[in-house]
Amino acid sequence: MENNAAAFSTRAIHLGFEPDPVTGDVVPPMHVTSTHVQNAPGDLKQGFEYGRCGNPTTNAFAGALAALEGATHGFAFPSGMSAEDTVVRLLTRPGDHIIHSTDVYGGTHKLFSVIKPAEGFTSAAVDLTDLDVAAREIRAQRPQLVWVETPSNPFLTVTDIAAVAELCHEVGALLVVDNTFATPLLQRPLELGADVVVHSTTKYIGGHSDVVGGAVVLRDGLQLPEHVTPFFDSRDAAEELTRLQMTLGAIESPRDAFLAHRGLKTLAVRVERHCTNTQAVAEFLQAHPKVTAVYYPGLPSHPAHELAQRQNPLGSGGVLSFELANEDDAIRLTGLTRVFALAASLGAPESLIEHPAIMTHSTRTGGVGGVPGTLLRLAVGLEDVNDLIADLDQALAQI
Ligand SMILES: Cc1ncc(COP(=O)(O)O)c(C=O)c1O
Repeated sequence: MENNAAAFSTRAIHLGFEPDPVTGDVVPPMHVTSTHVQNAPGDLKQGFEYGRCGNPTTNAFAGALAALEGATHGFAFPSGMSAEDTVVRLLTRPGDHIIHSTDVYGGTHKLFSVIKPAEGFTSAAVDLTDLDVAAREIRAQRPQLVWVETPSNPFLTVTDIAAVAELCHEVGALLVVDNTFATPLLQRPLELGADVVVHSTTKYIGGHSDVVGGAVVLRDGLQLPEHVTPFFDSRDAAEELTRLQMTLGAIESPRDAFLAHRGLKTLAVRVERHCTNTQAVAEFLQAHPKVTAVYYPGLPSHPAHELAQRQNPLGSGGVLSFELANEDDAIRLTGLTRVFALAASLGAPESLIEHPAIMTHSTRTGGVGGVPGTLLRLAVGLEDVNDLIADLDQALAQI
């Protein structure tokens, strides 16, 4: 389906596949093959050659996701982190400086604070939610790449993508936005001026806790920055990424792409329910006497509530965090819930609770923006909201 005028949920269901003209299949088949027969050496059937270089199932999913983000070129990866690593390799070279949001997923923090410095890059965490700080630091540090996570993990901070995009382009930096928490239903960063979108499709896009994956979507026409010598022979970012991905082998398997594509079809209904459930849980926690802080942009008390309403008008997503008075209680609470399961991840029907300082963000426990031991993160699922609130209520009553 090529109808760009159709609404999001219609496009999410139909993009990337026409019913098969021979068999009538309404679902893209899972092309489980590691190689493709060629007509003659180098004369490929529909461009397919070898499993590491692309696959009809994987390409259909990546194309559908790209279209939902408002672009032509999408790339599916075996994980969100491999998507992040590959896109940074594409757009930067050793010696470059990278600015990233202070609050980011623990693995992303490790990529920029441990891996990239060892490879000859410099990086700095900057509070990009404060536009005065963002303007001052982007103009002073003149990075080649700026990495924004919004809403962010685990503090649910919100960054003004359009304003930061303008600042980036003023100094010739590219802007990458991690859109995992918002999904293209709630937020389309390319339309706000970002150059690249990345996803952990393990989360809302896969949507069922049964697949690990990642994705990169490039703004149409994106060229490599002038200082970046192409690895291959093109300045066109999509062409280079195609060849980089096949060279590094960081491509999502057809089985996983099939599952991620299936998830994409129900993204809109799921995310809408995630949002309403999370809003109700946030309001319950905020009113609870044992809860000392709640971080959720849907609450009027959130410092970026107005921006969130403007940037994500359909809802604030399915993750929130909150604090208790002390770390022992926080750890104890993770063992007292019966519906919320103790596990890392988010974006699935099952509600999850986790302790970021010990689990997902163990490398970010100190310093400015450090994750305290009193913090708990909830990935609010699709169960009945009354059961979720009752579960938290009984657990809080025991501490
Ligand atoms: C915001 C965000 N980005 C990226 C990632 C990494 O994705 P993956 O676990 O699929 O590698 C995560 C994982 O939790 C995440 O929360």
